[in-house]
Amino acid sequence: MSPEFVVPFSGLQLRSLVREDGRLQLSLEEVPVPDPGPDEVLVRVEASPINPSDLGLLLAGADLSTLEAAGAPERPILTAEIPAAAMPGLAGRVGQSLPVGNEGAGTVVRAGSSAPAQALVGRVVAMIGGSMYCQYRSLAVPQCLALADGTVAADGASAFVNPLTALGMVETMRLENHRGLVHTAAASNVGQMLNRLCLTDHVPLVNIVRKREHVELLRAAGAEHVCDSSDAGFVDSLTEAIAATSATLAFDATGGGTLASQILTAMERAVSVGGPYSRYGSTVHKQVYIYGGLDRGPTELSRTYGMAWGVGGWLVFPAMERIGEQAAARLRQRVASELTTTFATSYAREISLAEALSPDVIAVYSSQATGAKYLINPSR
Ligand SMILES: NC(=O)c1ccc[n+]([C@@H]2O[C@H](COP(=O)([O-])OP(=O)(O)OC[C@H]3O[C@@H](n4cnc5c(N)ncnc54)[C@H](OP(=O)(O)O)[C@@H]3O)[C@@H](O)[C@H]2O)c1
Repeated sequence: MSPEFVVPFSGLQLRSLVREDGRLQLSLEEVPVPDPGPDEVLVRVEASPINPSDLGLLLAGADLSTLEAAGAPERPILTAEIPAAAMPGLAGRVGQSLPVGNEGAGTVVRAGSSAPAQALVGRVVAMIGGSMYCQYRSLAVPQCLALADGTVAADGASAFVNPLTALGMVETMRLENHRGLVHTAAASNVGQMLNRLCLTDHVPLVNIVRKREHVELLRAAGAEHVCDSSDAGFVDSLTEAIAATSATLAFDATGGGTLASQILTAMERAVSVGGPYSRYGSTVHKQVYIYGGLDRGPTELSRTYGMAWGVGGWLVFPAMERIGEQAAARLRQRVASELTTTFATSYAREISLAEALSPDVIAVYSSQATGAKYLINPSR
């Protein structure tokens, strides 16, 4: 930040509105730059990722083939039709112009009177707390993570959601007495982080991907067990990998379809080898946590794996609450110190707030494909 940098009175903020007429409206609104309270800082936002969880709030399940663009190039307004079947699930947000962006990073340009707030002036911080797709964000000191001197905002933009998710999976495994993990959509940024984390911490991991090139990608990154769900012998190779790792806990990012059920089938087969037959199945508890919704279809369970199993939902921040404040703080510090190694995120492209509302750009980042994560730099 140059010494002559002057904080303006207002800045742009990206908004997502579900209108009563069943259309999504995306826009950039001019909002006042807030004054930080005593224990708050004002951050010039310089980097904020577009994560799958942001896409849900941003795009509200709208049909992107109906996108219509209006407004000026630097202040676009987009609208799109929301399928009628999706509207009941959006009832709670109809008519509310919502800010978007779970996390980000930037430079502290002003601070409240408290000593912890003042200590952050001029520092680059990672932030969590929503409303990050804006030029200036005021937030409480505990929502910031001060990054090491010389760290650029882009490196700190994804310091919370995905790193704590990978760490939270391993913590959940330990809390629930499992000995290894299965992970789906494993070429994702979370997946690549989890792979590095498990290699470092010697946690047995079975990676599931759906494309041959992603098997290669993870193998090149040191992964021992990578199964391709598009292979004819997928459940057999998964059973072998689960038997080799004793993994009885899976985290599934896809949610829809039969993958969770295939994992439970493979786990049951792996733990039953050589054991006595029981018509109720094995007594070993097998658990799948659905932690993403990449496949929007219904979850299909065949229930051919006895009775000792569970399928549930999992979110990172409740998982952090579960392990307690001290343990969560320790994990945050680990993220800060391994930000560009274990917990590095790769971005396909950096875009401005206005570019984030270009239909061509939306078509790419909404694909949620491997290597297609975009980073918004609102200060561009
Ligand atoms: N519950 C939580 O607290 C929490 C926290 C953080 C992240 N998440 C979830 O973690 C997942 C990964 O996030 P990320 O930021 O790492 O994503 P990312 O880097 O954008 O990668 C997305 C991945 O999903 C795969 N994918 C997309 N659609 C798919 C489908 N229908 N079936 C199978 N794979 C599909 C892509 O593979 P292809 O190239 O094969 O399409 C790609 O590897 C997301 O679902 C996100 O919501 C959840």
